[in-house]
Amino acid sequence: MSEETLENLLTETRTFPPSLEFAAESNAQPFIYAEANKDRLAFWERQARELQWDAPWSQVLDWQPPFAKWFIGGKINASVNALDRHVNEGRGDRVAFHFEGEPGDTRTITYAQLLIDVKKTANALTELGIKSGDRVAIYMPMIPEAAVAMLACARIGAPHSVVFGGFSAEALLSRIQDADATLVITADGGFRKGSAFALKPAVDEALLGTTHVKKVLVVKRTGQETAWDNDRDVWWHEIVERQSPEHIAQSFDSEHPLFILYTSGTTAKPKGIFHTTGGYLTQVAFTHKMVFDIKAESDVFWCTADVGWITGHSYVVYGPLINGATQVMYEGTPDTPHKGRIFELVAKYGVTILYTAPTLIRTWMKWGDEFPQAHDLSSLRLLGSVGEPINPEAWMWYHRIIGAERCPIVDTWWQTETGAIMISPLPGITASKPGSAMRPLPGISAKVVDDNAKPVEHGHGGYLILTEPWPAMLRGIWGEPERYAESYWSKFENLYFAGDGAKLDDDGAIWLLGRVDDVMNVSGHRISTTEVESALVSHEVVAEAAVVGASDAMTGQGIVAFVILRSGMAHAEGNELIQQLRNHVAKEIGAIAKPRQILIVAELPKTRSGKIMRRLLRDVAENRAVGDSTTLADPNIMKLISEGLQNATSED
Ligand code: WTA
Repeated sequence: MSEETLENLLTETRTFPPSLEFAAESNAQPFIYAEANKDRLAFWERQARELQWDAPWSQVLDWQPPFAKWFIGGKINASVNALDRHVNEGRGDRVAFHFEGEPGDTRTITYAQLLIDVKKTANALTELGIKSGDRVAIYMPMIPEAAVAMLACARIGAPHSVVFGGFSAEALLSRIQDADATLVITADGGFRKGSAFALKPAVDEALLGTTHVKKVLVVKRTGQETAWDNDRDVWWHEIVERQSPEHIAQSFDSEHPLFILYTSGTTAKPKGIFHTTGGYLTQVAFTHKMVFDIKAESDVFWCTADVGWITGHSYVVYGPLINGATQVMYEGTPDTPHKGRIFELVAKYGVTILYTAPTLIRTWMKWGDEFPQAHDLSSLRLLGSVGEPINPEAWMWYHRIIGAERCPIVDTWWQTETGAIMISPLPGITASKPGSAMRPLPGISAKVVDDNAKPVEHGHGGYLILTEPWPAMLRGIWGEPERYAESYWSKFENLYFAGDGAKLDDDGAIWLLGRVDDVMNVSGHRISTTEVESALVSHEVVAEAAVVGASDAMTGQGIVAFVILRSGMAHAEGNELIQQLRNHVAKEIGAIAKPRQILIVAELPKTRSGKIMRRLLRDVAENRAVGDSTTLADPNIMKLISEGLQNATSED
């Protein structure tokens, strides 16, 4: 039996330091780590002072594990920091959003205009009876009104709960009920994959359930036929447009709840992660400025996440707007009307910083290099990745094909729960390794530990934990304090366990190895799915891979891999290809990790935010009926995969 908590199989020796020019100009300079180490709380206080406070705090941190409060006694308004401040300081003409609808309609929204829109909407919410502390559910397509709605809620102190527009009526209802929302903001519909989809019918259906919702505020986006309840439904344009453009924002306590955001989790009822104001804003603004090296006067920042996810909250709405950045917001899918849409928009708006997810990067690899190569991407100067481990080969592809070997890549590790980026290279400082999130940001304490909470040595794997409270940390699970303590603080005493496995390489850089629930146990070796997947993706014909452990009479678990091939690449067929791939894994990381079975598939089951759902693949690999797949982006995929596996033959 191996003693390792998690094996370290993959070795990566390539490193990519920033260019001298990039390093010289970068917002973060090397002393920042020492500065934060010297006095962590003083460091965070300095970052908090970058915001506009209406009253100062009297204490930086109150830590009664597992409950933290930051900047106690401070008073602040989130929307004032995102908008009024820029307009008051003469930056009102700067573009906040270049919006591009999927059908090609565009809007250019300056900070001054966005502020007027938010003030009017805040007045409309007040007219609809919403007061500080009331919860508002937002169920919208990716259009500017989604950001306006969030900021208007923040302006009047009403915590928003954004529910991703792709979720069902049932999912919406459970979230409305859990947060006890009294208002829903939605749209008639939005545009996706070349046609209009409806949103309002899902709201109508959800509200057949028992709720305290009194009004539904509806943006007209598509103009499609929309059923209407005259007592309950209000058109956005009818109520917002007639409001006064004046609105004086109140200040709220630093610990006033800013928003609730539900994480689906893999099995249980979604958790209502809630965040408060002062600490959250401090860390999102700081990380946005340092990790993305934002130069607000000249950069065009594009985070492709939907506002329905934490990435959209922190790096489309709050972080970039506080920093006065100019952004691109795109409504639709990356393949509509063609597979080069994202690249076309990078060229059109001169995007300088692109932040996206490994799932999209691997999809681009699968589609082929001709799509990015058809567009001028020379405006790009920095690239980012979030949401899943990025396999070294996907990192290299991003570096070569999108970044033209010129752009640093920041692989940012964080969670809905952490609120802001925690582990990431700093682009002007770090010599990055493809596939590693490298080290905790200044002011953040993360460690990799074994089952006894003992830090592992370099070259070993274990559990990723956070050892000190951080400003943007979740303050709890809405209405469920015990579940909060149990979910995050019970594995190790007073230490936050994030659910992820990680390893330290020989230099102490951190490599994320996926969720520990996904770890496979093969003949007593605890092997991470990420490492086997990365080994597969490092084969030139593989674009994407998902690996699971299926029970095996001989070895405890056997490795079963599902692989997507890159288009337009010549490759062996059938068993010969499978054999090549198995041998490739053995060569890259060792015979112990050689998959028992490999299945070539066209698609993988993913959540709507793009994470692979290995749980469903495990069901297939163990010949069980596939479990709850309601959070799947495309429900047909599992059927195709199960049929495929039944026809495939098992290797030795
Ligand atoms: C995973 C997204 C490896 C991880 C911001 C985490 C990552 C979960 C990375 C949170 C990364 C996120 N490398 N894994 N750079 N970033 N993850 O709540 O498993 O949607 O726990 O937040 O995504 O997902 P969430």
